[in-house]
Amino acid sequence: MSPLPARAAFAALALGLALPGVGHAQDTVGSGVVPREHGNSAQRPVTFAVRAPEAAALVILTGSAALPDGVPLSAAERRAVEAAIAADGFAGKANAKLKLRGIGSRPVVLLVGTGSEAEGLMEAAGTAAQDLKGEKAPVALVGLASAQAAADAALGYELGQYRFDRYRTGATEAPPAQPVTVVTASATAAQAAFAARHAGLAEGVRFARDLVTEPANVVYPESFVERTRAAFRGIPNVEIEVLDEAAMRALNMGSIVGVGQGSRRGSRLLLVTYKGADGPPLALAGKGITFDSGGISLKPGAGMWEMKADMAGAAAVVGTALSLARTRAPVHVVAVAALAENLPGGNAQRPGDVVRTYGGKTIEVINTDAEGRLVLADALGYVADKRKPFAIVDIATLTGAAVSALGPEYAALFARDDAVAARLAAAGEASGEEVWRLPLHPTYRKAVESPIADVKNSDASPAPGASAGAHFIEAFVAEDMPWAHVDMAPTMWADSAEPLTPKGASGYGVRLLDALAREWKP
Ligand code: BES
Ligand code: MN
Ligand code: ZN
Repeated sequence: MSPLPARAAFAALALGLALPGVGHAQDTVGSGVVPREHGNSAQRPVTFAVRAPEAAALVILTGSAALPDGVPLSAAERRAVEAAIAADGFAGKANAKLKLRGIGSRPVVLLVGTGSEAEGLMEAAGTAAQDLKGEKAPVALVGLASAQAAADAALGYELGQYRFDRYRTGATEAPPAQPVTVVTASATAAQAAFAARHAGLAEGVRFARDLVTEPANVVYPESFVERTRAAFRGIPNVEIEVLDEAAMRALNMGSIVGVGQGSRRGSRLLLVTYKGADGPPLALAGKGITFDSGGISLKPGAGMWEMKADMAGAAAVVGTALSLARTRAPVHVVAVAALAENLPGGNAQRPGDVVRTYGGKTIEVINTDAEGRLVLADALGYVADKRKPFAIVDIATLTGAAVSALGPEYAALFARDDAVAARLAAAGEASGEEVWRLPLHPTYRKAVESPIADVKNSDASPAPGASAGAHFIEAFVAEDMPWAHVDMAPTMWADSAEPLTPKGASGYGVRLLDALAREWKP
């Protein structure tokens, strides 16, 4: 970009003028990044049938050392597999694997343990998907006793087979994408159960994982919006509203505008409404920092790249809306994505700046790296005022403190009300995306008291960091509004592969909020 327009842009910003186009610099083409067509998240399509295709790699799901009824093996093949089971000591424990080659004409026979728990089946299918990622042959899953079990296994396979290799130019071959056939006597019913709910959920999770994995020179506020529009195209009962920076400035959203003003990428507030029922909506608000450098309160370099994932909350709420809309769930939700890029620069906000929010409250910005709560302050104020939701849940990669407190198994949950907390906990257990409640306390609220403004945004004592963040957000939610805050910093990224989550972006939050929204009615 030549210096002239840059200077004009700066002057316009300094004058507080709206400047359409200023956020459009550095487009993807300019960065030289061209995604490969055939590599992107290529997956095996899922089908259901009463019989396993001849040449398929055979996945046998079982909770014991015994082979399930109806495995498509000849008597001799069966004896060979049973001998291998005995020699290995395979007993069907959760996610235990025994991989055999040379059994009849099957390219692979893979036994995966389901254990005795109900969720073991989904996980075992996910484990199989990850194991067979490089397998050229089609795949068949057997050992499924009911239509529901078959549909659940299909979902597990879908979640486990996720891949993202758009930017690898070395491989010349497309990844194996022969179908996976889920074998069950009630194939039609299984297919229907899968289509009614699981396929949409898998799409929502995939949407979130893709956005989180994409680098910040590809996914920025404006392109996040475009991806969202593309994902929802043609789905009924969906409405998309987008506020650009000029619109937000006009509405006095100084807090989100302040976070984004160090970046050439314009900030956006994105609202996706899915109206599958009458009455007020459930509002789901997500932190959407497409890159968090810390701003002037710059982060150290090591690991900073992970902050391309700092929009995982926004991806989760939009992914949830996608799942609900795709499956025509009888619910009314509005997903709000508070999108901005947090960079240092000549126009970046400074530590100590004071900004005014949509609702009129003022914030002293002690630390520009505590930016997630700043973008949410305006998002929550706007959605409460304009959409009159019956409850609000926000989800955000908010604090390193939550990571230290909980490790990778739980997101932190904050709620003023026990009944609201119980709803989130129940959704966590039902979905497998668990939450652990941490405290709000009147004493901790002092952490966000400012001497010169209504609140300040940093973590000073006496509160633990994750609670301080929650108290800040609470200041922007009316007292009588049912509200929960989910700090998903611990769960945004899987450092090692889990059965349903290959290493990388987890897509956390879509399954949790999908389960929540289906249950929580006004
Ligand atoms: N996005 C980070 C939090 C984060 C850290 C998420 C690690 C995932 C992994 C957030 O914006 C942040 O920088 N938080 C600060 C808050 C502090 C400045 C009050 C933190 O946690 O240190
Ligand atoms: Mn930050
Ligand atoms: Zn952040």
